[in-house]
Amino acid sequence: MEVLGLSSVTRFLLLFVFFVCSHKCNLVNASEPVLEITKGFEAKPDSSVDSFQPLLTDPSGNFSFGFLRVNGSRLSLAVTHPNLTEPLWIFDPTRLASWSHKTKLFFNGSLVITDPSSRVDWSTHTNGDSLVLRNDSNLQVLKSPSPSSSVEWESFDFPRNTLVENQNFTSTMALVSSNGLYSMRLGSDFIGLYAKVSEDSEQFYWKHSALQAKAKIKDGSGPILARINPNGYLGMYQIGNIPIDVEAFNSFQRPVNGLLILRLESDGNLRGYLWDGSQWALNYEAIRLPCDLPNPCGPYSLCTPGSGCSCIDNSTVIGECSPEPPSGPADFCGGDKAAKFKVVRRGGVEVPFKEWMDHKTTSSLGECEEMCVEDCKCFGSVYNNGSGFCYLVNYPIRTMLGVEDSSKVGYFKVRESVGKKKSRVGLTVGMSVLALIALVLTVTMVYVGFRIWSREKRIVEEDGGLSPGPYKNLGSDSFRSVEMSRR
Ligand SMILES: *[C@@H]1O[C@H](CO)[C@@H](O)[C@H](O)[C@H]1NC(C)=O
Ligand SMILES: *[C@@H]1O[C@H](CO)[C@@H](O)[C@H](O)[C@H]1NC(C)=O
Ligand SMILES: *[C@@H]1O[C@H](CO)[C@@H](O)[C@H](O)[C@H]1NC(C)=O
Ligand SMILES: *[C@@H]1O[C@H](CO)[C@@H](O)[C@H](O)[C@H]1NC(C)=O
Ligand SMILES: *[C@@H]1O[C@H](CO)[C@@H](O)[C@H](O)[C@H]1NC(C)=O
Ligand SMILES: *[C@@H]1O[C@H](CO)[C@@H](O)[C@H](O)[C@H]1NC(C)=O
Ligand SMILES: *[C@@H]1O[C@H](CO)[C@@H](O)[C@H](O)[C@H]1NC(C)=O
Ligand SMILES: *[C@@H]1O[C@H](CO)[C@@H](O)[C@H](O)[C@H]1NC(C)=O
Repeated sequence: MEVLGLSSVTRFLLLFVFFVCSHKCNLVNASEPVLEITKGFEAKPDSSVDSFQPLLTDPSGNFSFGFLRVNGSRLSLAVTHPNLTEPLWIFDPTRLASWSHKTKLFFNGSLVITDPSSRVDWSTHTNGDSLVLRNDSNLQVLKSPSPSSSVEWESFDFPRNTLVENQNFTSTMALVSSNGLYSMRLGSDFIGLYAKVSEDSEQFYWKHSALQAKAKIKDGSGPILARINPNGYLGMYQIGNIPIDVEAFNSFQRPVNGLLILRLESDGNLRGYLWDGSQWALNYEAIRLPCDLPNPCGPYSLCTPGSGCSCIDNSTVIGECSPEPPSGPADFCGGDKAAKFKVVRRGGVEVPFKEWMDHKTTSSLGECEEMCVEDCKCFGSVYNNGSGFCYLVNYPIRTMLGVEDSSKVGYFKVRESVGKKKSRVGLTVGMSVLALIALVLTVTMVYVGFRIWSREKRIVEEDGGLSPGPYKNLGSDSFRSVEMSRR
């Protein structure tokens, strides 16, 4: 890059940044992360921090609690690990504060965050004496009448997408993937994964029932709970410490030194990771085959085991199987305003997760399709000629299952797109070129910025604590906001 004559630009930028820095950079992190927060603590987001501003750290220095920058200018509270892209815990992400001086976090017995501009006013509603971060990432408000202290509030009671070793997951909790599309909940005797398929409905897509080999579920003994056991399994318990079920991880009964976590990721899969001292290694995967995932190929597509993704309608391009996103009504109801659609029929189709879908029995394919034709809330039907089972899909079509048996016939209502395919492709190409240019520019800026930063660092020599280091990606899951803020 120097060869390209960038050094003068570098020098210019260095001067520029130095100028800006003389006003701002010296104020950076006046407060280093501490081991304990007590009454009187107050913090505001630092405008120069671009991903994470640590405020509190655990005794081993592995985890940090602090301000997480989300989506550029929004703020959330989070507990992070330097080698995880996504935080271990994040405060209710539906209500984000702004990354501005208007946002204030303080501890007065309660941990309180206020941001009048975003109408965020959240509190733990406790009367504790301190806030600490445990070496298992649990954030706790403690009341300390000596000698022992009691826990008034803890983040382990409010999981987001991650469950940590020994954390109790009860029937009133849910793990929710960071994109908000998938959730994990406990039933009376099972662990279930659910996909949000429309504004108000969910599809069951994975179930693990308790085998009850060692202990039986007793009626009236209360709900079950789930917990990751350090011996390498996800246990389901009702009373005491004898599991009613054991879902083994790869490290099952192999003594390992390290922390286990379980995470519901953005593709709907539930994955376990083990910190082996240097990295988070994949240790468990609930769904092993791609076609068993809830929506692996996107809307109006087909996933065929062994051959992957294709579109339901052969005339569309893979990756663009879906018609225009609905601008009008979500379904085909509504008289004159009803969305127009064409019909696509094809054999070799099955509904995914059919064991958890309602079906009717009809005597013919025609009778099955007719039920969908007549119902404006129906998006498609699948008929099994062998069994006579007729499945009606009452939400926008997602990935269907491709099968050999051509007597299983699907009927689909496909929203008419008003012939904009070409311009969309053009637009996509245009956008990609723009994005590429932006990326090149960003990389250049970051490179230049980094050189300046490293020089600055040598000059200023005021570091020492945890700096908001880069996050490493974990598995296939990517956390948009962190990814974005990293640019
Ligand atoms: C990020 O910002 C965009 C546009 O401002 C918005 O559509 C999106 O929902 C935001 N995402 C989150 C996670 O807040
Ligand atoms: C984990 O994060 C730390 C701190 O950022 C870094 O020094 C280390 O190299 C990372 N380890 C891996 C395996 O990425
Ligand atoms: C802490 O501050 C909040 C918000 O100002 C207030 O509602 C609460 O009563 C305070 N709690 C204590 C223990 O002072
Ligand atoms: C975490 O803290 C507990 C005591 O609170 C201690 O027994 C345990 O050894 C610690 N674990 C690690 C990995 O430091
Ligand atoms: C989880 O629940 C068990 C039994 O219900 C209890 O003994 C244990 O202390 C709980 N663990 C945590 C971290 O709260
Ligand atoms: C925590 O830190 C200790 C050393 O301080 C290290 O041995 C251990 O692997 C770390 N654990 C995690 C989960 O990062
Ligand atoms: C798509 O192509 C496959 C094989 O090429 C064929 O069996 C199927 O009927 C076609 N479907 C449609 C809707 O045209
Ligand atoms: C459906 O089944 C009937 C009799 O059970 C049979 O006559 C018909 O050929 C089958 N149709 C297809 C498409 O397999």
